[in-house]
Amino acid sequence: MERKPFIAGNWKMNMTAASGAKLIDELKPLVKDADCDVALCVPAILIPAMAEAAKGSNIAIGAQNMHWEAKGAFTGEISADMLKEYGVKYVIIGHSERRQYFGETDETVNKRTKAVLAAGMTPIMCIGETLSEREGGITEDVLSRQLEKDLEGVEDVTKVVIAYEPVWAIGTGRTATDEQAQETIAFIRKKIGELFCPKCAEKVIIQYGGSMNAGNCKGLMAQPDIDGGLIGGASLKCDFAKIVNFDK
Ligand code: 13P
Repeated sequence: MERKPFIAGNWKMNMTAASGAKLIDELKPLVKDADCDVALCVPAILIPAMAEAAKGSNIAIGAQNMHWEAKGAFTGEISADMLKEYGVKYVIIGHSERRQYFGETDETVNKRTKAVLAAGMTPIMCIGETLSEREGGITEDVLSRQLEKDLEGVEDVTKVVIAYEPVWAIGTGRTATDEQAQETIAFIRKKIGELFCPKCAEKVIIQYGGSMNAGNCKGLMAQPDIDGGLIGGASLKCDFAKIVNFDK
């Protein structure tokens, strides 16, 4: 089963309209021959300017969150229509930073994921264990719970991109080894097969995220179950192009 690799950047709360547009201008020629899908998930306020900067290129623009209601009294939130107006294709949902610092729960991740799908966009749904959970030997329990709850009621799981981001590897410079990432992502695929169907699981794009960079991307991408990366720090510079071109 052929799965097209997918490399996405997550700018988190970084860049401005000026520095972001400059980076996109620099990246465009460097990534134009990519064999994978490419996206940059940017802060909401930068979406219009980054969509303009990326126009006509193979860089898709993504968002970092989205509310499940269509509109209303939800101060600080962003709706599907607001994102679609600027051609947003991907929305990161349930990033561990949102779970850790902003009270995101499996229930809200589930609602947001279903709303992104209903709006015809692709959720990049993040799951992952903390260091104490890994050291406590409960990584698979944690991931199983997240997959069960976060994907509950999803009709077509093949339309969801899963990002496996071990919390201990995010922004720490401590990447999961190729084997650790492969083993865990293979487990995630198996679990999706049990929750939905094995054939669907074979089609689901599963990214690795956590200190992925130009130096370690080749080894990670060579693993049979790793279909891409969700890149934080290394997506803020031209090095991102080296990750996109991991196969060249
Ligand atoms: P880093 O690549 O900076 O570790 O961040 C990973 C991440 O959280 C992407 O969503």
